[in-house]
Amino acid sequence: MSGYNLHMATERRFSGTLTSEYDLFDLACPKGPILDATMAREIRRFKPRRQTQVLDALELGFGTGFTSKVILGCRADLRLTAMDNEPQMLPKARKNLKQWIGDGRLTLHVTDALAFLRKQPTRRYDVVATAATLHNFAVPYRALVWKELSRIMKPGALFINADKYAQKGPAQRSAVKARMGRYFGVAVPRQSFDWLKSVVLHYMDDESPERRMDEAEQAALMRSAGFVGVRRIYRMDMTAVVVAYRA
Ligand SMILES: C[S@@+](CC[C@H](N)C(=O)[O-])C[C@H]1O[C@@H](n2cnc3c(N)ncnc32)[C@H](O)[C@@H]1O
Repeated sequence: MSGYNLHMATERRFSGTLTSEYDLFDLACPKGPILDATMAREIRRFKPRRQTQVLDALELGFGTGFTSKVILGCRADLRLTAMDNEPQMLPKARKNLKQWIGDGRLTLHVTDALAFLRKQPTRRYDVVATAATLHNFAVPYRALVWKELSRIMKPGALFINADKYAQKGPAQRSAVKARMGRYFGVAVPRQSFDWLKSVVLHYMDDESPERRMDEAEQAALMRSAGFVGVRRIYRMDMTAVVVAYRA
């Protein structure tokens, strides 16, 4: 793999308590309303350049299926392929997404994102939607993901990501503090100290130069990978929602 250390490909940042107690994330920072007001709305009004009966959508990092539900729920003419590299997430996602798996509208894969993208045909997808996943990637890995996403998306395809996008300066520090306050607020009364410790360490790693997903830098990278109309449509503390189109 050029410019990229192979061990990062198999990095599982959500193993253990971050998966078994995953619901605490949503309890501390509910993202349902954000996704409904941003991701669901954008996907609903998206018109592909070429008329098609079924929109082929891809999700990176299905987790427990929270975001997959939003993507599948907002359009009946959409078929979703989703992948995650954490095997412990699969039973949770299968349970939460039973209805769509049964309907044949959803396929789940347990695999590394970049390895999966590299196997996809060129210009296959109309929509790529993802949440809270890309910030987990190491910087060089993420750059390779942009290259592959650009290759596998159809011209005019929609990209939407609701994620931790770092800002410059004091805004970032106060956003991290606010987020930590919420996590302590849910973990301490439940005595979920292992989860809390993992979250704190995870966040320290997210803030490192090797991983930090800076909003402005990402927009520049996306443009150079062939995306247009890159814009932020939402920000609340650490979370931003970014939309773009494959040129
Ligand atoms: C914070 S969770 C978000 C899950 C879901 N999108 C949601 O909104 O609840 C991030 C997910 O990305 C997955 N992930 C992280 N790095 C990955 C990689 N390199 N390849 C595939 N999945 C990855 C993790 O296993 C985890 O389930």
